[in-house]
Amino acid sequence: MSTAKAAPWVAVSERSSSLSPAPERRPAEGPNERGRRGSRAWRGAGWREPFGCVEAVAGGCGQPPLCFAVRSDLVGAVVGRGGSKIREIQSTTNTKIQIIKGDPKAEVKIFGNKPMQTKAKTMIDNFIKEQENYSPQYRVDIVAFQPSVGRDVSTNHNEDLPLINWDKIREDALKWGKKKWADLPPIRKNFYVESATTRAMSQLQVDNWRKENYNITCDDLKNGEKRPIPNPTCKFEDAFQCYPEVMENIKRAGFQKPTPIQSQAWPVVLQGIDLIGVAQTGTGKTLSYLMPGFIHLNSQPVAGGKRNGPGMLVLTPTRELALQVEAECSKYSYKSLRSVCIYGGGDRNGQIQNVSKGVDIIIATPGRLNDLQMNNFVCLKSVTYLVLDEADKMLDMGFEPQITKILLDVRPDRQTIMTSATWPCAVRRLAQSYLKEPMIVYVGSLDLVVSLFFITIYGI
Ligand SMILES: Nc1ncnc2c1ncn2[C@@H]1O[C@H](COP(=O)(O)OP(=O)(O)O)[C@@H](O)[C@H]1O
Ligand SMILES: [Mg+2]
Repeated sequence: MSTAKAAPWVAVSERSSSLSPAPERRPAEGPNERGRRGSRAWRGAGWREPFGCVEAVAGGCGQPPLCFAVRSDLVGAVVGRGGSKIREIQSTTNTKIQIIKGDPKAEVKIFGNKPMQTKAKTMIDNFIKEQENYSPQYRVDIVAFQPSVGRDVSTNHNEDLPLINWDKIREDALKWGKKKWADLPPIRKNFYVESATTRAMSQLQVDNWRKENYNITCDDLKNGEKRPIPNPTCKFEDAFQCYPEVMENIKRAGFQKPTPIQSQAWPVVLQGIDLIGVAQTGTGKTLSYLMPGFIHLNSQPVAGGKRNGPGMLVLTPTRELALQVEAECSKYSYKSLRSVCIYGGGDRNGQIQNVSKGVDIIIATPGRLNDLQMNNFVCLKSVTYLVLDEADKMLDMGFEPQITKILLDVRPDRQTIMTSATWPCAVRRLAQSYLKEPMIVYVGSLDLVVSLFFITIYGI
């Protein structure tokens, strides 16, 4: 592997001999490893990059390096957090910089052409000056007013800290993740049978129908090759012809036809694809995820009784919304699926008892669910269908930390649906974190915000 084309980096190495340290090769590494090692080296991991490579990538090949010494305790000020400062110096001056750690002084070598070497040195001097101005040793006046117990300003304790082995931590996290999710039954996700009428729709009919239904816009946010966006299901039978019990419930409710979001969301969700549904309040988003969710739950290889926990989890921002969703759940009760509502301000003991009786669907506000989860009253490992309902409101109410903690316990290969009435940046970020290769259905006009999202988040 050629090291000459490495991404910009800086070697902070231990000094083995003061003048001409012998080059010493590291074992071959993958590209990811290479990208990471710069930051690992800041704290003197004890490796050295071949000098020849450094010279080859810096401008001014053949020019001897500009060498000078810097007090070891000031090296951090030159390198910056995560290497930010040194990278800045290198990129603005087109030089490569090597710092060889030593005690009490480190040796700095700047590779590049002469004017740029000088410029880089000036920048380094400035950073050092800045640091000295703020250093406790030089700000006796400030230190005098600090409580001095346990503080020794004359020594640099950073040198004594053990190095953090990030590679090991990452490896362990991967291993732990694999172990955590091992032994779980596979998830069945695709239950969609396209009706003959839906299949027969021409592109023009599809476009017209979407336009007439409040301008439905959809896109596949998967990177690479795009999947076909399914035609909308214009009638209830088009989505649920194979599920008579669902059809009965809909008939009983007396609904005439699917709402726009339902018509486009159902064929996506029934195929097992993650969905972001953006539509105004009151447009029927609840049934757009509940109906496919019922079918999903009832079609898993492990039956409800043996699942040992809920199969569907709906997170909602408020108690009122949680109760509304629960009411819809009960109204369209399917195959006697049991749902439980968990929300802050409600009877905690009663909720714990309800959950422990066995449950298929949990509808919860994030705070209270996180509380029960942390206290081991509810196990979320069995959840295969997750809904983040009214995501914009949940974020407005500051529930992101609880959502993050809850989702640590939900298997990553679940199907996830997210609904929202608005589409601000924070919601887009949430979608990017928790949905996998989703499709988006947007009822309304495809405005600039959405276009920007496609470009910035998914690079399309
Ligand atoms: N296809 C439909 N036709 C008529 N009414 C519907 C339909 N789907 C749902 N509804 C009703 O519309 C109301 C609002 O739906 P909801 O799902 O709460 O909206 P949202 O979640 O988008 O704010 C509910 O009372 C629901 O029963
Ligand atoms: Mg809703």
